[in-house]
Parts: sequence; C-alpha cells; structure tokens
Amino acid sequence: MKNMRILILVLFLFVAEAGISQNKIIIDAVTAKDTINKNIYGHFAEHLGHCIYGGFYVGDNNKKIPNKDGVRLDVIDALKKLKIPALRWPGGCFADTYHWKDGIGLKSERPSMLNIWWGNVKEDNSFGTNEFLNMCEVLGAEPYLSGNVGSGTPQELADWIKYTTHPNGSSPMPELRAKYGRPNPWKVKFWGLGNEAWGCGGNMTAEYYAHVYRQYATFMTDWNNSDGIYRIASGASGDDYHWTEVLMKELPPKMFDALGLHHYSVIDWSKKGSSTEFSEREYFTTMQRALFMEELVTKHSAIMDKYDPKKTKALAVDEWGGWYDVVQGTNGAFLFQQNTMRDAMIAGATLNIFNNHCDRVKMANLAQIINVLQAVILTDNEKMILTPTYHVMEMYNVHQDALMLPLTLASNKYILGKDMLDAVSASASRDKNGAVHISLVNIDAKNEQEVKIDLQGVTAKSVTGRILKSATLQDHNSFDNPAKIKPVAFTNASLNGNNLVVKLPPFSVVILELK
Ligand code: AHR
Repeated sequence: MKNMRILILVLFLFVAEAGISQNKIIIDAVTAKDTINKNIYGHFAEHLGHCIYGGFYVGDNNKKIPNKDGVRLDVIDALKKLKIPALRWPGGCFADTYHWKDGIGLKSERPSMLNIWWGNVKEDNSFGTNEFLNMCEVLGAEPYLSGNVGSGTPQELADWIKYTTHPNGSSPMPELRAKYGRPNPWKVKFWGLGNEAWGCGGNMTAEYYAHVYRQYATFMTDWNNSDGIYRIASGASGDDYHWTEVLMKELPPKMFDALGLHHYSVIDWSKKGSSTEFSEREYFTTMQRALFMEELVTKHSAIMDKYDPKKTKALAVDEWGGWYDVVQGTNGAFLFQQNTMRDAMIAGATLNIFNNHCDRVKMANLAQIINVLQAVILTDNEKMILTPTYHVMEMYNVHQDALMLPLTLASNKYILGKDMLDAVSASASRDKNGAVHISLVNIDAKNEQEVKIDLQGVTAKSVTGRILKSATLQDHNSFDNPAKIKPVAFTNASLNGNNLVVKLPPFSVVILELK
C-alpha cells in the first residue's frame, strides 16, 4: 500500500514536471495528524486611524449608531459570524508607546496622548483595557495583548497581567480592577512582548532584543508559569532568518511559546499603488508577494525545527495582508484602503498556506480588522460594509480546529509575460462531525482552471459548495453597493467515487463540503 502511494506520487510529480496541463490534487486523509489551530483565523486591531475609534468604538453616548457600551452592534454581529478566535491589541507600533494605566478608570480622568506613529492625532484613552477585554468576551474571541517593551518597564507589563488575570484580593492590581467595576479576572492567555522590536518597537538587534525579552519574560509570571500565560516574542520581518535563529538560540524554552512573523504583500514600499485601480502586472506582483508566505513559513519553520524538533513552539504570523496607498482624500497615516477581489485572492491563498503548515503555524492575525489595511469591515459613520476578505474568512472558518488533510498539488501556471505563478492553491480538513472541507483558489486573472482531485481515505456521497467571484479583479463592495461581492452557491463540482472534478472560474475562491 505504501509502495503504491509512492508510485502514484512519483507519477504525479513526473506529470507535473513535464508541464502537462492539468491541475491535480491528491488528498491523503489516511496520514492526517495535525489540527488547524483556530487561531490561524485571528485578527488584529490597533489604535490606528479608524480601527478602534469609529470602527469598533463610537463613544458611550452615541445615539446615532446602535451600540452597547460604545461598541457598535453591527460590527459585533458581523464579527460573530466570522467566529473570530483571537484578537491582537492595542498594536502594532502603537503598543510600544502605550501605557495601559492611562486607559483605565473614570474616562473623564484618563490622560490623553499623541499617537506618534499614526498621524500624531489625540488619543484620549477612552477605549482601554476594560473596554477591550469586555468586547472580546462579547465576541467570544481570545484577547492577545501586545505588551509595551520598547518604552515601558517590566513592572508595567507584570502589573498589566495582574490587573487583568489575577484573582480579586491577591494584590493591589486586582483590587484596582475591582474598584473600576470588574471584580472577576478576564481570561487573557496570549501576551506579546513588544512589537517589531527590530523597528518601531525599539530598533533593536536580534541579540539585544533576546536579552531584553528574557528580562521582561522573567517578571511576567512565576518559576512554573502557574498563570498559564502564553508568551509570544516579537518576530522577524519577512525573510530576516537571522532574527529567528537568534531568538531560538537565546530564549530559554521555558520562557516562550511562540515567535512572531510579519509579512505584508506590498508591491513596492515607495510606490504601493491604488487599492482599486491597478493593472494586471500590479495584481501579479501582489500575488507574488503573497505567495512568498509559503517560502517564509517553510524557512522560518526549518530554523525552528533545528532547536525544537518536537514543534512545541509555534510560529505566530501576527501581521499579514495586502498594503496599498490610502484611498485618495483620506489621512495618509490612517492606512484606509479599499478591498477588492485581489484581496480575496491574497486571503484565500495565504490561509491555504497557513492551514497546510499548521504543524508549526498556530496563530495568525490579519492586519487589520476594521478600516485599516486589508480590513474585513469598513465603516462610514452609521454605514458598514463587509469586504471580499470578510467573505473569504467566513467561508474558510469551517477549517477552524479541524484535522488538516495533507495534500499534494500540481498546478497549471498563471502566466504573465515571462513570469509565472501556480494558478491553483488548496487546503483540506475534516471537522469533528466527519465533514471534509476543501478550499480552492484560482488566482489566474484570465483562465478557468479545471482541477481533478483524488480523494484517498475520504468516503463521501455528496458535494456542495460556495464560491466568491466577480466580473473584474478590481470589483469591491462600496457603501452604495454593499453586496456586489458575496458568496453564492457553487455547482461546478462533480463527485464520482473517490474522484472529484472542479471547475474554478478566473480569480475565484471556492469552499467545498463533502459528506
Ligand atoms: O499594521 C500597521 C503597522 O505595520 C503595525 O503597526 C506595525 O507593526 C507594522 O509595521
């Protein structure tokens, strides 16, 4: 049986190598062993532009926009449908300027500050720790607090943990919490130690950060980490493999649980291009950058494997997504961009990469959740729209905590001029009820792709599906036309025993369910 499988694989690789034009996937449910951690579907909310203010939070006395304690109800409702598992806050670069004690207590007495990274606008601290953690409870999402290592102190971070998670009466911090109306602790497991320590988080070298990390991590809990906190080190920027190597070498294993990684799909940092008016060449380059995530995750994981072969430490891609020029007429520091079918392609292909690497990637946080970068929600006063990226996240949420089914894929090429990329990407999982889900993306801007799928170890009688597609890559939802792009039923999949044939239109995302 094993030899047979090897033979099929060799034949399959030969066909792929020979350039024979056929997309072929072999799904091997027999050897499946890794679970897709639901936190791969995590999000990120920074005090930046209108992510928090105007996005989540509209003020306690707002009579125009329905809210509870200032948090928009339409947003909560939409995010609950995504089943967002984890939410990172308050930054980003903002995190290393944030002093959490400024954001607790009576709002009228909270001091203001300037948000130096994001437009020097006034931050009045009206949305702080209590507001964020209460909101996470309503959302059913686990909070991921990014601690201030760049300009804070170890004491400040240790106090934040006590304020949020220690039982009432155990020390002054929980008493302060009780005084401010919350006697019981929240559950806060995920803690980041700084953000982009190599840049806005302190311009540190990897070696220097590793030492600073050890100092901060020491005071976050006791010898045995009886608080059960999960410490995430500020990770590499893109392909800075030296950063990962140094942290894996220098951080005592007992003192960390995950390393971060940030990667944005940017055409060119000095000329990012419009989020809605772009050429096919710009689209192609964006997809090249997005698919580079495969190499990044593979190579960072290989370094981690050297020090941690049993994969006890995770890679947390705690910022990822597309980054373009801001929409004309908006504040350049607010990073407000539209979200088109191009973004749906980034989301679908990237999530497939994370699913397939779920043995090491245990968390990821799309940047950012509302009104900033590749957002799932855009708001304009009382109006709110869901973006194509929202729909991909919703379609893919069936993979959360499901058993990943390994697959081998030979794809036709999406060719532009002399350049080419794999047209098709895919991932598959089996949920706890036995349903198998396959997510497929065709990034080819012009050609339909027929995909033949060989299902090994999957017995299914029926296939159903949903598709996200549109007439042009530049299509997007707008406040005037909020439902232009939304998933619809997909009928172009036919199942015959263990063989599945799927026809994917150009630039489309499909989710299939087999039962
Ligand atoms: O997401 C926007 C910014 O990008 C974050 O604040 C920072 O961490 C990254 O450089």
